Amino acid sequence: MKTEWLDGLSDSGLQRAVQLLQAGECVAVPTETVYGLAADARNAAAVRAIFAAKGRPANHPLIVHLASAEQLPQWAASVPPQAWQLAQAFWPGPLTLLLPKAADVPEEVTGGLPSIGLRVPAHPLLQTLLRQLGSGVAAPSANPYKALSPTSAAQVMAGLDGRIAAVLDGGACEFGLESTIVDLTQPDQGIRILRAGPISRIAIEQVLGRPVEVPQQHNEAVPGNVQAHYQPRTPLHLFSSDELADFIKDGVGDDTGLLLWSPRLIGLACGRERALILPDNAPAFAQTLYQTLHEADQLGYRQLWLEQPPGTEDWLAVNDRLSRAASQ
Ligand code: TXA
Ligand code: MG
Repeated sequence: MKTEWLDGLSDSGLQRAVQLLQAGECVAVPTETVYGLAADARNAAAVRAIFAAKGRPANHPLIVHLASAEQLPQWAASVPPQAWQLAQAFWPGPLTLLLPKAADVPEEVTGGLPSIGLRVPAHPLLQTLLRQLGSGVAAPSANPYKALSPTSAAQVMAGLDGRIAAVLDGGACEFGLESTIVDLTQPDQGIRILRAGPISRIAIEQVLGRPVEVPQQHNEAVPGNVQAHYQPRTPLHLFSSDELADFIKDGVGDDTGLLLWSPRLIGLACGRERALILPDNAPAFAQTLYQTLHEADQLGYRQLWLEQPPGTEDWLAVNDRLSRAASQ
C-alpha cells in the first residue's frame, strides 16, 4: 500500500482524510498528545485494520475520539455526573474517560471489554475532521506495537509507511505524551487514574472535590497497559544524576548515547561527550521526549543512558513512560 502524505494546512488534505475514513481506511491524524491511527469507530472492519497495521493484539482496547462531549451518550451506556464535570473542565483536551460501553459500539473497539475510553481532542485539524466525518474515530497511538508513540507525521511514516492509507500532517504535537486516563466505570467505589498524563491528579481532584487514586507505576489489569511499552529500539537505561556524573567523569564509551537534562551534567559532559539535551521542566521534557528518543535511535548507539528526572508528582507521567521505555 502506498501511504499518502496529506498536508493538514490545505483543505484538500483534510477532505482526502475524511474521504479515506469514510471509505473504511486507516489514517494517521494529529492530536495534541501524540499522533493517532484513526478509523471510523462504527465500522468494525476498519477498526480491525488498525490492529493489523500496528501488529497490536486484538484484546487491547482503543480510545474513541469525539467532536464534543454532547456525543458521550451515543458511545457510553451511562454518563455519571463526574464525567460531565471532567468533560466541562478539560475537554477538548488530553483526558480520556472510561465509561460503560454503549451496546451498539463494535466489540472490536474495546477488545471485548464492557467499558470504553472516550476523549474529545483539542487539535483543531482533528476537531474539524471529526465534525465533517460526523462519527467518532477509534485511534491508538500511530506506532507499531510497543514502539515509541509518534509526535510528528515524519515519525508516523518511519514506523507505518506502506501499512496505512495516509498520514495527515498537523505539525508537532503540543503535549508529546499520551492522555491521562481516568476510570469512571464505578465512581461510587472510587475514581482511579489508569495512566498518568498531561492532566494531573491534583487538577482532577480540584474539579471533583474528592480524592482520586493514582497508579503506582503502571496497571497491568487492563490488556494493553503493559510494562514493556513506549520503547526505543536501542536499549535504554535510567541512572540518577549522581550515578551518571560518576560515569561521565570516568569517561563514557562511543557506543553509548547520553540523554541529559540537568545543567550540572550537561556542564560536565560538555566538551567530553556527545549528549542529547532534554529540557529541565516536566512539560517541555514531555513534549520533546519521544522525538528525542526517535532521534537517539537514528544515531546507531548500542545503548542509551538517560538522566532520570526528579521523583516529584509533576514528573509522574514522564517517569511512567521512562520506566516503561527502559523496561526489559
Ligand atoms: O493521548 C492518547 O490517549 C493517544 C491519542 C492518539 O489520543 N492515544 C493512545 O492510545 O495513547 P493507545 O491505544 O496507544 O493507548 C490507550 C490505552 C490502552 O493501551 C489501554 O491501556 C487504555 O488506553 N484503554 C483504552 N480503552 C480502555 C478500556 N475500555 N478499559 C481500560 N483501558 C482502556
Ligand atoms: Mg500506544
